[in-house]
Amino acid sequence: MKKVLVIGGGGREHAIVDALDRSPQVGKIFCAPGNAGIGQQAECVAIKDTDVDGLKEFAVENGIDLTVVGPEVALAAGVVDAFKEAGLRIFGPSKAAATIESSKDFAKQLMAKYDIPTAAFETFEDYDAALEYVKNGSFPVVLKYDGLAAGKGVVIPDTFEEAEETLRDMLLDDKFGKGKVVVEEFLTGPEFSFMCFVDGEDVYPMTLSQDHKRAYEGDKGPNTGGMGAYSPVPLVTDEDLEYSLEKIMKPVASAMVAEGCPFTGVLYGGLMKTPQGPKVIEFNCRFGDPETEVVLPRLESDIYDIFSSVADHTAMPRIEWKKEATMGFVMASKGYPGSYDKGFEIDGLDRLPEDIRVFHMGTSSKDGKFYTSGGRVLMVVGSGEDLQRAHDKALAAVEAIGCENLFYRRDIGWRVL
Ligand code: AMP
Ligand code: GLY
Repeated sequence: MKKVLVIGGGGREHAIVDALDRSPQVGKIFCAPGNAGIGQQAECVAIKDTDVDGLKEFAVENGIDLTVVGPEVALAAGVVDAFKEAGLRIFGPSKAAATIESSKDFAKQLMAKYDIPTAAFETFEDYDAALEYVKNGSFPVVLKYDGLAAGKGVVIPDTFEEAEETLRDMLLDDKFGKGKVVVEEFLTGPEFSFMCFVDGEDVYPMTLSQDHKRAYEGDKGPNTGGMGAYSPVPLVTDEDLEYSLEKIMKPVASAMVAEGCPFTGVLYGGLMKTPQGPKVIEFNCRFGDPETEVVLPRLESDIYDIFSSVADHTAMPRIEWKKEATMGFVMASKGYPGSYDKGFEIDGLDRLPEDIRVFHMGTSSKDGKFYTSGGRVLMVVGSGEDLQRAHDKALAAVEAIGCENLFYRRDIGWRVL
């Protein structure tokens, strides 16, 4: 029986642990650092996701057969490179390949060079030059900080005054650190998340999902890490999917090989179905959160085999998906994505129907009780014959969970219900 280490401690990692838990080959799962919910299915170890040496030492000492990396910060810290150098098996991209997420400018230059459909753009380091460019363009305009900013580095000003303020924050006051700004054309259309297992030139698509980035109902309020998701996504046609695979995901994988930084792991295409067809909004170098929590429950195949085939560069087994639909609601701390208080008791988790999956995003536990400990706290997922049924089940479960400091969006799935 295999021993697996999962790096990370959110809902995405809970869903990865849950999928590994279903593998008949996996005997023991560790999660670093994990969280209270993950602790019900794996042994949590108190090592930070960016403590590369600590993680490596743990893997060696405990005879870990395979390590799976959740968060981008661990990848950007070079955890995969360090594990490989030490002869350890690990699923995830190298630090160089992770640049596709950690630098928006790198991703945009790559797409421009290899003709991959995306919004027109220009990159600036200089405040005055950026301001001049924006002044002569149209609004709204999309301003993206070049580096990692935990989903908060994208601002879409409607007016020149707002744009000026944002550029000041990003380029003069270094709000996210010293860095460049990508100024992008504003695109319209529904977004969808296309995650693929990628091993160099080989691309194996996962079933589609859709996230809800804005904090409040009606897609209002600030951008968040994601407030809910569902799978599959009926508004994306077979033709859109084929185009996204052949004109976007496969060419990008080939481009990464050609650039000398082949990608191995999950490549996440954040795509928009524009009137001109699917275009890239962003790439991530890892599973999406909360998308993973609705996608992996639909995976029929053994995920240990999939991870192994990518990590070892061996033949990929056929990847099968369940017919059932899934939909999940994020319950977040009041105040998120801004500041929020922690430590509120969560009640009712033990009284939910058996087919409801609760993935913990930010919880702690004490004396058998769960408490809030993060911005996003729970992802409550229902499944059923169709999205409406999945929605109704998940929402009923969310309503049965008691906690005075949590809020959620009731309109997850509004585009398709
Ligand atoms: P990103 O972090 O790049 O995914 O951007 C965050 C969110 O901003 C996306 O999910 C979109 O809703 C929005 N966004 C980003 N780029 C564009 C664009 N070029 N046009 C319209 N909306 C965008
Ligand atoms: N849900 C969006 C992301 O994982 O980046």
